[in-house]
Amino acid sequence: RPHIRMDARDGLMVEGVPLARIAAVVGTPAWVYSAGSLRRRTRALTGALGAAGLDASVHFAMKANDNLAVLALLHREGLGVDVVSEGELRLARAAGIPASRIVFSGVGKTERELRLALAEDIFQINAESAEEIGMISALATALGRTARVALRVNPDVDARTHAKITTGRAENKFGVAIDDALVLYARMAASPGIEAVGIATHIGSQITAGMAAYRTAYARLAEMVHAIRAVGLPILRVDCGGGLGITYRDEPAPMPEALAGAIKVTLGGLGLPVMLEPGRWIAGPAGLLLASVVIEKQGARRFVIADAAMNDLLRPSMYDAWHGILPISPIAHHAPLSPADVVGPVCETGDTFARGRALPALPAGELIAFLDAGAYGATMSSTYNARPLAPEVLVDGTRFAVVRDRQSYAALAHGQRIPDWIGA
Ligand code: LLP
Repeated sequence: RPHIRMDARDGLMVEGVPLARIAAVVGTPAWVYSAGSLRRRTRALTGALGAAGLDASVHFAMKANDNLAVLALLHREGLGVDVVSEGELRLARAAGIPASRIVFSGVGKTERELRLALAEDIFQINAESAEEIGMISALATALGRTARVALRVNPDVDARTHAKITTGRAENKFGVAIDDALVLYARMAASPGIEAVGIATHIGSQITAGMAAYRTAYARLAEMVHAIRAVGLPILRVDCGGGLGITYRDEPAPMPEALAGAIKVTLGGLGLPVMLEPGRWIAGPAGLLLASVVIEKQGARRFVIADAAMNDLLRPSMYDAWHGILPISPIAHHAPLSPADVVGPVCETGDTFARGRALPALPAGELIAFLDAGAYGATMSSTYNARPLAPEVLVDGTRFAVVRDRQSYAALAHGQRIPDWIGA
């Protein structure tokens, strides 16, 4: 995390900005993203793909981070986006991303969403079933459009990641079975209103167990490309999905060079452009959640109670995920450590960020940072316990900008009403 460092006087900094300064301006909790880190990571990934000699395009999976400023920055770095809903499609357009750089994935796209995608003429729709192919064909024909569609194939591999985020096994709801894929691809290519452009897969997320699962999945896609060509059908590209893991604690995180290598050996000989849909690898390490200590409480265990909670950063509650926790002040940084449970104020035992974490004394008001929270952080937030959504801040060098305001309390009640009954 080269964008984070401890300054002897100003405490923990993101690039050239002390986190204490950000807290003084926007309060806590707050999400803080590093523009430099986002750029560096994007360039490392695209650089690795280029160095492997691949004709590759990258579509950022914006479910990981859908802040408009982040999306605009990534787009300036040459990325498109992978969207999974009408809301994401609209946010992407609001961030200035042209339809020609948008891919639409997802297992349950509604007619309304598909109509919008067709009206906007986005780059590609990834279809996940025979039923959906029929739906896209009918809608495109009615609208007088041609949909560029890739077929999402479920390669039945085990990415050996958390059960809640593995997607490439036969039992998962995603894609079509590899054994049915050729027949469906042929049907798709023959469907009015559809141009069959390729095949797609995504085997899971936070993949850290090496490249074996990727290689197996991509080798199956390569076989399928040969089969498609053997029956004389067109294919223009292969979408390799996302999933590249990062180091939250001490997991051996794969480098983009390894992924580029896995793509090269399996798909490199086909003469087709490839696409990638990474989310976490680009944005995760680039962001943190800044919080204050509300109070320290000594019971059967030592509890540090933060003003951030599971409604802000859900990952520890939902996946038992481990996030690094750093104190911000230079004094706390050098104080003796003892084990503490770091929890939020929400009324659930699951509102626990860490158990038995070695931390210094953290008196009320002390600032702390939850690391690697730039992906699946703010996007998974809710207002549970009527806690407004936290603001988002983008740091670039010595400057920072509030790129999303803290939600107001008025907004929590907005659109609600006490019924004024109509009818008998
Ligand atoms: N493409 C598709 C079709 C996906 O479903 C996903 C993520 C991605 C790309 C991006 O995967 P990534 O490169 O970020 O691993 N909330 C969970 C992660 C859920 C991932 C869902 N799909 C978490 O916080 O760990």
